[in-house]
Amino acid sequence: MINYQLKGKVAIVTGGVSGIGLAAAELLAASGAAVAIWDLKADAVEKTAEALRSKGVNTIGIALDVTDEAAVEAAVQRTVASLGELDIAVNNAGIGGPSASSGDYPVDGWKRVIDVNLTSVFLCQRAQIQAMRAAGKGGSIINMASILGQVGFNNAAAYVAAKHGVVGLTQTAAWEHAGDRIRVNAVGPGFIATPLLDAMDPAARKALEAKHALGRLGTADEVAALVAWLASDDASFATGTYYAIDGGYLAQ
Ligand code: NAI
Repeated sequence: MINYQLKGKVAIVTGGVSGIGLAAAELLAASGAAVAIWDLKADAVEKTAEALRSKGVNTIGIALDVTDEAAVEAAVQRTVASLGELDIAVNNAGIGGPSASSGDYPVDGWKRVIDVNLTSVFLCQRAQIQAMRAAGKGGSIINMASILGQVGFNNAAAYVAAKHGVVGLTQTAAWEHAGDRIRVNAVGPGFIATPLLDAMDPAARKALEAKHALGRLGTADEVAALVAWLASDDASFATGTYYAIDGGYLAQ
């Protein structure tokens, strides 16, 4: 495994107890970063933090809902107080949402998905930029988008709209805060084998696999490697970009 040289850096990973977030948190930590695990699931937050601690990682687990503005601001402050000034933030928490065509999409489901998958990224990024600006040493923010931040997908209007929004937020913040030496990028995974896809029936999963040139779903570790590179100083010229990691999904 590559070491992304993050010794001395402090990172936040939202949705850090499962799937892509967990893999990213583990790789950032293995590369030397202190890592704050943020997630809704309080028990899993404690377990994940404890598992990292047992490997010698400097970590804090914070149970919160990333759609809660006050909780997000308090969590940034707790992270900085506990681990030090913030260098890296991975805004990854997300949900799938209802499956229905645009004509039938439930309005409450729409609001929830936009809240969790888009507004939370705005809130987290806002508080993280304030902390990074105050520390005055720049930083790297990585927002988890999706292939569905670039193209449409049947029966997923809210998810698709939210992920397109994440790409726009990312591009805008990158320009606004380049002068603060804060790089902001979006990662766009293809379909990745994580608990988010657990509910999918096997036939639908096979059909999804075929939409990737590589003929399979990705792994959380494959996405984490891109996240860790973007977090590192090796990515010093990378900002304002959507980085696909999708097994060729968007190539055709
Ligand atoms: P996952 O379901 O394994 O993990 C998501 C984590 O986010 C969970 O631990 C959950 O508790 C947390 N979370 C959800 N709502 C939250 C809230 N309101 N506050 C705090 N934490 C919350 O999902 P996975 O697959 O690892 O997804 C991570 C991100 O990657 C999501 O943004 C997802 O949209 C995105 N993504 C996933 C793909 C996939 O095929 N699995 C493909 C492209 C993007």
